[in-house]
Amino acid sequence: MSALKKSANITIAAALAEAEERYRRENPKSLRLYEEALRVMPGGNTRTSIHVDPFPLAIERGEGAHLFDADGHEYTDFLSEFTAGLYGHSHPRIRAAILEGLERGLNLGARGALEAKFAAALCARFPSLERVRFTNSGTEANLMAVSAARAITGREKILVFSGGYHGGVFYFRGGHNKINAPFDFLLGRYNDLEAVEALVAPHRDNLAAILVEPMLGSGGSIPGERDFLAGLRALANAAGAILIFDEVMTSRLAPGGLQEALGILPDLTTLGKYLGGGMSFGAFGGRADLMDRFDPRRPDALQHAGTFNNNVLTMSAGLAGLTEIYTPERARALNAFGEDLRASLNESVRQAAVPMQFTGRGSMLSVHMTARPIRSAEDAAKGHKGLKDLFYFDLLGRGIWFAKRGFFALSLALDEEDGERLREAVEEFAETRAPLFAEAQEAA
Ligand SMILES: Cc1ncc(COP(=O)(O)O)c(C=O)c1O
Repeated sequence: MSALKKSANITIAAALAEAEERYRRENPKSLRLYEEALRVMPGGNTRTSIHVDPFPLAIERGEGAHLFDADGHEYTDFLSEFTAGLYGHSHPRIRAAILEGLERGLNLGARGALEAKFAAALCARFPSLERVRFTNSGTEANLMAVSAARAITGREKILVFSGGYHGGVFYFRGGHNKINAPFDFLLGRYNDLEAVEALVAPHRDNLAAILVEPMLGSGGSIPGERDFLAGLRALANAAGAILIFDEVMTSRLAPGGLQEALGILPDLTTLGKYLGGGMSFGAFGGRADLMDRFDPRRPDALQHAGTFNNNVLTMSAGLAGLTEIYTPERARALNAFGEDLRASLNESVRQAAVPMQFTGRGSMLSVHMTARPIRSAEDAAKGHKGLKDLFYFDLLGRGIWFAKRGFFALSLALDEEDGERLREAVEEFAETRAPLFAEAQEAA
């Protein structure tokens, strides 16, 4: 049951302190496990994006759309492993595919039985993919795509966008990250073509690539406007640069990814997440004339190695997932479910007259504590951070699992009833916390 009280006469800071106190009280085992981890891992963490203050919950088990933590709480999983968990936990066909992989033997130090089939399935699905190569993560896929663009064009500059995220060494939320890969980046504003053209103009002849998510994913589910993305396509053509769509997250948003939905074809595409069936995965691919530079038969071939690039479990689970489970029909249905859910969540907050909104597309959505239009990371940053944290703790208290930064991704294991549960939790938040929004607006 909900532990929320009407928030009249308290401040956001006080409400947050109260919510955190409840969180501590209700999760003693998670806290103990966190303290143990602190001794051997920096911040008890090996993956910054899943750290939560004051401490993260220890999730022990997942089943379908449900997660179970160390203190015995159950959550409905609206995070779906930041989009990689599209199939839900332990989907029977994915389990069977992993077992089939195990039967074949781990790992064989040679071309395997499935990699060309999996590559063919990906090329058949994503319109710009004529050839593809596999990596172990989306980060690595982007490293390869960007490095290839630099080698092929003989140029140095890489245009990226604030709020963009392409992996641990390609992090552009709040500017540049100190441990980003040492490429020569130009940082543009998302959905602002004019500013981007002006930024690029002095560097046109040295522009190797434009690396862009067709919707900012972890940057706040902010769709790239069609004119903006088409403008980037034209800019790449005019400058002789390579347009790379990072569809590591967005490939799930339509049968052929956002490139298909928008009708804009990049030169190279990077993929990852769910496409490995839940195993470690990444891929980069695109135009045959570019990708064939990796053909090892060429005397001037570009190198791309990696012990686990064709690992048996990923090839098996990925192929089964894409061809047998996430068929074009299922992709359309999941994204229609997401569209309806987002519309109903926005209707709920509109009726409650609180300045918050859900942005996104299809099966990916993010909450923002502002009603102002959000077209860029700079717009998203105007939402009130404390209120968003409070939203996290309040919804967690109602058994809703999502990312603290306000990010939700839907899996095939969720159903209408789960959607209704999320809507009720959002309605309760909007109603009980409505008085706090005035304070947030004063601060804005
Ligand atoms: C758009 C995008 N690109 C790349 C990555 C990096 O993928 P990985 O975590 O597999 O390295 C992510 C991960 O969240 C992502 O969202």
